[in-house]
Order: sequence, then structure tokens, then C-alpha cells
Amino acid sequence: MDLSQEGFIERLSRDTNDLDIGLVVSNAGTGNSGEFLKLDRRLHQATLRLSAMAHLNITHHFGAKLAERRRGGLIRWGQWVRENGVPCMQMTVARRRMSTALARRFTLSSNL
Ligand SMILES: NC(=O)c1ccc[n+]([C@@H]2O[C@H](COP(=O)([O-])OP(=O)(O)OC[C@H]3O[C@@H](n4cnc5c(N)ncnc54)[C@H](OP(=O)(O)O)[C@@H]3O)[C@@H](O)[C@H]2O)c1
Repeated sequence: MDLSQEGFIERLSRDTNDLDIGLVVSNAGTGNSGEFLKLDRRLHQATLRLSAMAHLNITHHFGAKLAERRRGGLIRWGQWVRENGVPCMQMTVARRRMSTALARRFTLSSNL
């Protein structure tokens, strides 16, 4: 399933609805580093959907199920470049910062 496609979460939700899931590993991602202006805008957009929006959707959907279940875990991958900007990885830094902020806040605000 391509997590960079709009609407994937509805399909994933349908396909996993009957499963009792206690641990979610939201790990899909890709680098696609390069000079910002030289990379195709559609590639930036698809990578943003994959590396940020997909994790937002997964965290929201499965987070609600885990909270209802009252136990479980959700693992997200981080990346050191979020703290240290490096040339040609501006979008990677931006995506990771959003994703990390969401993961940290999710841990603090959910009552698992
Ligand atoms: N390797 C590093 O140096 C490094 C550093 C920092 C952070 N990370 C992050 O850590 C995570 C894992 O990295 P890795 O090195 O293990 O990379 P990897 O071996 O290339 O694994 C990436 C995973 O993401 C999946 N994926 C990629 N695009 C997808 C899409 N559009 N839809 C659904 N699944 C997709 C791949 O699925 P398929 O196998 O089906 O293609 C694969 O399972 C990623 O989020 C990456 O950004 C990696």
C-alpha cells in the first residue's frame, strides 16, 4: 500500500479493522535529499505526504484505537537531522520536526 497516496488511511483502516493491534510501528519513509529547487515539486509533495501526513493519519487512527484499548504502544522513527540542519535536506528537517513534535505531544496527551 502506498502511504503517500491520499485516502490510504481509509483502506488501511478497513483492512485492519478486525485485528486487535497493540503495537503500531509507523516507520515508512524516504530521504529524497537534494537541492530543494532542483527536485521536482511533485516529489517534495509525495514525500511530505509519506513522511509527515501518513504518520499523522496513522497516529490519529491507531492512537484512538489504542486509547480505547487502554494499553499499547506506537513507535515512530526520528532522525538526527531534525535538530541539525544540513545542506540539501531542508524538507527532510521540516518533515521530521513535524513528525517528532506530533510523537512527543501524543505521548504526553494520551491516557494510555
Ligand atoms: N537509513 C537512515 O540513515 C535513516 C536515518 C534517519 C531516519 N531514517 C528513517 O527510518 C525509517 C526507516 O529507514 P530505513 O533506512 O530502514 O529505510 P528503508 O530500508 O528504505 O525502509 C523504508 C521503509 O519505508 C517503506 N516505504 C517507503 N515508501 C513508502 C510508501 N510510499 N508507502 C509505503 N511504504 C513505504 C518501505 O517499504 P518497501 O520495502 O515496500 O519499499 C520500507 O519498508 C524511514 O522513515 C527513514 O526515513 C533512516
